[in-house]
Amino acid sequence: MAKDAVTRFSLSMAGSLVRQLDAMVRAKGYANRSQAVADMVRAHLVEHRAQKGKGEIAGTITLVYDHHKRDLQAQLTDIQHDHEGLIVSVMHVHLDHHNCMEVLAVRGRAESVKKLADRLTAVKGVKHGKLTVTTTGKEFPA
Ligand code: NI
Repeated sequence: MAKDAVTRFSLSMAGSLVRQLDAMVRAKGYANRSQAVADMVRAHLVEHRAQKGKGEIAGTITLVYDHHKRDLQAQLTDIQHDHEGLIVSVMHVHLDHHNCMEVLAVRGRAESVKKLADRLTAVKGVKHGKLTVTTTGKEFPA
């Protein structure tokens, strides 16, 4: 793929906003303002893409549940088998005697991924479920 040429453009905003931006740029260790703003733009584009629903996204679904709850694990496994095309990998962590954490790496159409996350989170006994959305990387060439 051809190198993504840098385009210069100017922005106008309140001075107090720029001072806070510069303080954040320093605190987070960015090389410059442009790098920080580009990161913010990418973060919003990822969210926008996820909300539109049609585009392909990657992400993780994290679930915490008590594995002693009757049928809970079987239900989660059934749902996962119904969506094997979306689930790339699963990591299971035994947090303590009762609690398990499962982290599913997912990839697919945004609306399908969100539906899967909602179904898993809604299973009775799941204490917390969260979908974290990221890019597949394709829309942001280096
Ligand atoms: Ni476990």
